[in-house]
Amino acid sequence: MRKIENPWKQNPWLESVAVAQRRARKRLPAPVYDALVAGSERGQTVNENEAAFRELGLAPHAAGNPATRSLATRVLGQDVSLPVLISPTGVQAVHPDGEVAVARAAANAGTLMGLSNFASKPVETVVEANPRTLFQMYWTGDRDLMVQRMRRAHSAGVIGLILTTDWSFSIGRDWGSPEIPERIDLRAKLRNAPHVIRKPRWAWAFARAGVPDLTAPNLTKPGEPAPTFFGAYYEWMSTPPPSWEDIAWAREQWQQISGTPFVLKGVSRVDDALRAVDAGVHALSVSNHGGNNLDGTPAAIRMLEPVAEAVGQQVEVFFDGGIRRGSDVVKAVALGARAVLIGRAYLWGLAANGQAGVENVLDVLRMGIDSTLLGLGVSDIHDLTPADLVVPDGFHRALGRPSRTSDATTNPVSLRA
Ligand SMILES: Cc1cc2nc3c(=O)[nH]c(=O)nc-3n(C[C@H](O)[C@H](O)[C@H](O)COP(=O)(O)O)c2cc1C
Repeated sequence: MRKIENPWKQNPWLESVAVAQRRARKRLPAPVYDALVAGSERGQTVNENEAAFRELGLAPHAAGNPATRSLATRVLGQDVSLPVLISPTGVQAVHPDGEVAVARAAANAGTLMGLSNFASKPVETVVEANPRTLFQMYWTGDRDLMVQRMRRAHSAGVIGLILTTDWSFSIGRDWGSPEIPERIDLRAKLRNAPHVIRKPRWAWAFARAGVPDLTAPNLTKPGEPAPTFFGAYYEWMSTPPPSWEDIAWAREQWQQISGTPFVLKGVSRVDDALRAVDAGVHALSVSNHGGNNLDGTPAAIRMLEPVAEAVGQQVEVFFDGGIRRGSDVVKAVALGARAVLIGRAYLWGLAANGQAGVENVLDVLRMGIDSTLLGLGVSDIHDLTPADLVVPDGFHRALGRPSRTSDATTNPVSLRA
């Protein structure tokens, strides 16, 4: 008999990421929700990231499908129960427990936590919640500061470093950006009161836990208080962007400090992937920053297969951008990803229901992967191949791959020296 759900029950199960997003929208003050939606310029890339998954079909079997399926894999030398990791996001004020709730949820789900250097909780606290945490840094500050931040993350016990380099400080969205206060003083409280008053559950949670201070504790300079988010952003904007030699330098520093894996996040092009391999990275993530960087970058899933084909034998290739269901994960793995990272999907879960909401989203993805494997007749996640998918002609975008006239799907962009 079908169980009838009590409509007044608090925090009912979120059956899909879309439902989690709707609940998040209902619960969060509009500026906070809008900050999670993010995107840039006309929103072309953020929309394409999700839409491109719809173009990929699945090729199911009618019988002979496996009774049990294995989703477990190994990522950066760690066993994970599913090929889904938490992508670092620097978002404050979604939930009072923030990254600690996310880290606990990831630990309970048997997977890795990615912690942004713009996070609201100190790396030490997050590692306590999930000892398998990867610390993410942007290229910000001078070299001494970067080394000091690496040392701190290593002392806290992180199991690897993610360096994210795809950011171009684009300003202006056609739909307008939310106002984020520098600090929550009386003026900011009064300005935001009309939004907050409409979201009593969110306001009550923060009233009990304390108003967020909107600082970046992992970017604290020695002997100074944690910078505000804007202070940290200013430091980042004033830092000259890294060269490939800088990436190799960072990878070398991390090797000496920690000896744990070094991941480059934000690779779109085949030529960059090859250079990342030369710089000695252990892994890279094919990513357009969830559509928040250069608007007009193709959907991340279109760029995955060419990069995986070029460097997948040498380094672990991850993927992030637009994952909203288990079948999206299966599609990315079939096109060459070792694992995917998720951003907004878990942020919606966090906003909707804290740690339980993040666990819920991870469960939704786990069940979705499992049912997709069942339908495809694949018993082990490692056995997926592009033949399990229906990939339309011209789907892939091989940015920066030396042109090959025989390959019609190649976007002929020549390698620059
Ligand atoms: C609100 C928000 C904040 C983000 N902050 C960071 C960050 O601090 N560091 C980083 O490497 N990526 C950051 N990202 C990008 C994510 O790590 C990830 O690449 C992206 O969200 C993946 O796309 P998805 O949201 O469609 O899953 C952020 C993304 C969002 C939506």
